[in-house]
Amino acid sequence: MPGYDSIESLRTALTQQRYLVDDGLATVVYLTLKLKKPLLVEGEPGVGKTELAKTLAAATGQPLIRLQCYEGIDVHHALYDWDYPRQLLQLRAGGASALYSEEFLIRRPLLEALHHPGAVLLIDELDRADDEFEAFLLEFLSDFQVTIPEIGVVEAKEPPTVVITSNRTRDLHEALKRRCLYHWIDHPGLKREVAIARARLPHVNERLASQVCAFVQDLRWLDLYRSPGVGETLDWAESFHVLGRDSIDSATAEQTLGTLLKERDDLERVRTQGLDARIQQAEELAGKLQQHAGPDARPVQPPHGGPPGGPPDARPVQPPHGGPPDARPVQPPHGGAPVQPPRGAPDARPVQPHGGTDGRP
Ligand SMILES: Nc1ncnc2c1ncn2[C@@H]1O[C@H](COP(=O)(O)OP(=O)(O)O)[C@@H](O)[C@H]1O
Ligand SMILES: [Mg+2]
Repeated sequence: MPGYDSIESLRTALTQQRYLVDDGLATVVYLTLKLKKPLLVEGEPGVGKTELAKTLAAATGQPLIRLQCYEGIDVHHALYDWDYPRQLLQLRAGGASALYSEEFLIRRPLLEALHHPGAVLLIDELDRADDEFEAFLLEFLSDFQVTIPEIGVVEAKEPPTVVITSNRTRDLHEALKRRCLYHWIDHPGLKREVAIARARLPHVNERLASQVCAFVQDLRWLDLYRSPGVGETLDWAESFHVLGRDSIDSATAEQTLGTLLKERDDLERVRTQGLDARIQQAEELAGKLQQHAGPDARPVQPPHGGPPGGPPDARPVQPPHGGPPDARPVQPPHGGAPVQPPRGAPDARPVQPHGGTDGRP
């Protein structure tokens, strides 16, 4: 694992992987690496929690070992299991002596992480797992060793870099939090989201990227059942691009809204309120953003001749309603109901183990 001698060098390495971090996240990730403590990141779905671990692995050149949590996950899925069919074959062949040896052990992600010094271990969506599993994890995170009765103690030569994510569908235990560094990832402000879109979708022109981000930022002020995450913003921008549009128009927006909003009620609500006013507002805001883009808003030179990314430390611009960048407006735009913070548990459905949910909300 390459040692980063400053927060800035870590930030540069993450930016080169097209993952943009603000000061707070850069600092906590730096400390995670230095203090060798697990990092617990919480936030709404789609704010880049899973991607952070993937990027960290890519930046440090270490393998990413991923444990996707789900309701009912247990030690056999997380730690190890025995290869029963092979044990049976061995038994039939007459050899019963070494049935419970390394040879017949199936390493699951936690055990696997102990065998790869310095690996990045992603324990994804821990809030989906049950209390018992969380308690079991506590032991693992304290010592980075496990006891397999038939084999003995397996210990990590070097503890893995652990990133635990939670969508906060339930509170995690105090004891677990005490063992971790903690960071809450918010939805990015407009300027940062545009920078992310530019970094991730370099083929999408700046105007379209800005308009899409402005539109999505505006939607996040509504009390939607499921607010769009950054992943959805990117999908929507890509959709316009694929359909040959270089700016938002209402017909295409109407047809592609399902890329952005995945709940029928949300779709209906946004459609009923009218897309035109929102689009116009997004255009204006995007125009202002481009006008005011100072030298620090220019895309950064990408690594290895890749596409440009935005400034890593772009700050959110003022919201369209004159409030502070991170505050929710008292009155929503377009005359809707007063705004509530996004719901805490929009994403609580269990997923299949090892299935490719990929962190997308
Ligand atoms: N800070 C960021 N920099 C670059 N891309 C980001 C960032 N945050 C989110 N993304 C994009 O958003 C997508 C969704 O993020 P993800 O990590 O899956 O969200 P979460 O795990 O929080 O639900 C990622 O695949 C990535 O493309
Ligand atoms: Mg995720």
